[in-house]
Amino acid sequence: MTATNKTGSKRKSEPVNAGPAIELVEPTAAPAPEEAPAVEVVPKKKILFVASEAAPFIATGGLAEVIGSLSKALAKNDRYDVRVIVPLYQDIRKEYRKDFRFIGNIFVPLSWRNQYCGIFEYEKDNVTFYFVDNEYYFKRPGCYGYYDDGERFAFFCRSVMEILGFIGFYPDILHCHDWQAALAALYLKTIYCFRPEYQFIRAVFTIHNIEYQGKYSLDILEDLFGISYHYRNLVEYDRCINLMKGAIECCERFSTVSPTYANEIKDPYYAHGLDAIVRRNEFKLCGILNGIDPDYYDPETDTALFANYSAAHPEKKAVCKEELQKMLGLPVKPDTPILAMITRLVSHKGLDLVKEVIEQALRQDMQFILLGTGDSGYENYFTDLARRYQGKVVSIISFNSDLSRKIYAGADLFLMPSKSEPCGLSQMIASRYGTVAIVRETGGLKDSITPYGAGGNGFTFANYDAYDMLYVINEALGVYRIKGEWAKLVKKAMETDFTWSTSAKSYENLYLSILN
Ligand code: GLC
Repeated sequence: MTATNKTGSKRKSEPVNAGPAIELVEPTAAPAPEEAPAVEVVPKKKILFVASEAAPFIATGGLAEVIGSLSKALAKNDRYDVRVIVPLYQDIRKEYRKDFRFIGNIFVPLSWRNQYCGIFEYEKDNVTFYFVDNEYYFKRPGCYGYYDDGERFAFFCRSVMEILGFIGFYPDILHCHDWQAALAALYLKTIYCFRPEYQFIRAVFTIHNIEYQGKYSLDILEDLFGISYHYRNLVEYDRCINLMKGAIECCERFSTVSPTYANEIKDPYYAHGLDAIVRRNEFKLCGILNGIDPDYYDPETDTALFANYSAAHPEKKAVCKEELQKMLGLPVKPDTPILAMITRLVSHKGLDLVKEVIEQALRQDMQFILLGTGDSGYENYFTDLARRYQGKVVSIISFNSDLSRKIYAGADLFLMPSKSEPCGLSQMIASRYGTVAIVRETGGLKDSITPYGAGGNGFTFANYDAYDMLYVINEALGVYRIKGEWAKLVKKAMETDFTWSTSAKSYENLYLSILN
């Protein structure tokens, strides 16, 4: 008898127990064939993420991190075949790019155009990544901000649909993220679902930030996006094409990146004009909190840090603080709390609140570090603040991943007073590095940070008000001075579960709710 092992090779089976020898007798009649126990082979569920960026290959923000870490978390479950498709930008990191495998090329119809599309493949952590190559559209610095972004991402989405046929992979779930991938859902529902191979593909659309909707003039619907004018009601909103609206209308389910944000976007204050559409489609909306990759953000192994530490052995966090102070030219004072911000310098990050009261906070014994780039008004303000408060305030106007990790590890408090925040990852990273978060209760900030006073892992305030924020900063500085209490709070922050374990399950349930 032979058995097949996992790798498919055959081996002889060993007798389990050599009992007393028995005499073999020729059977008189052939015995009834034994029925082999039925082994049910359940085909893997096929999930395809369509997104404009994915870590570690190319990242400009939280979207990329979520695509990289959620796909990896889902792929841990061997009932799923998880793949991701992104454009092959010029800035894709070289160390990965050199190992991409070219698997072929096709020509993609986009209205009257017929464009070259090369396809590259790379496998990482059980996830297959595809990269869509077209030098005319993607051989440029950065990912966004070009006059023809609409056409670039229309090409990308149309290519996605064509590539499925080329590689023979028809996903059960086409999971599109943000407006740049919205057209994939629209092409599925207006063009491809009439082809037999595509008819069972179901679409999920995730909003990472409702502020960016992909709005274009209506007259380019056919000519540029290649969508027939009689589908105009799907995408038209406020007298223009709104790609996010189109995806919401035609997907089976849509989601946002935290339960609180899912609620908030029904409200005009948060919805940037789309609240009516969200409310009308509320029956298919859910909010699932993002997680972070615990291997990537691990103070115990992070090589960017001056020293490594963990929740069980946090002692060396003090080394990280001391070295950070030295590096940034701040007086080395182990007992002076460092309040840090790592942020894009744009208004919805709550910077107006900071401007209003930071100087009052600075009257106390504390140091303030800001790292970020953005609107020049804020850049100038924080540069000036650092000049006026030398030895107390440092502003670094740049985006620097290595330095950001040193700050996450070396600071004591992390401030994130956003006006709106779909999820936010920085408060989770800071907490994991033992830097206690102070947040406004909005979106994912509310869902991930709970108030110290109620036994939580950080400090929070509800109203978008500078003095409410100052009040909790002072509260936090007060707790910092009670050493035993502070150590307990740091431990609590570090031990909060920010992994994908719960949220990946929620995505699985979302997929299954459609497929079943
Ligand atoms: C966007 C949101 C941010 C969220 C990220 C990942 O960048 O602004 O809050 O964490 O997407 O979903």
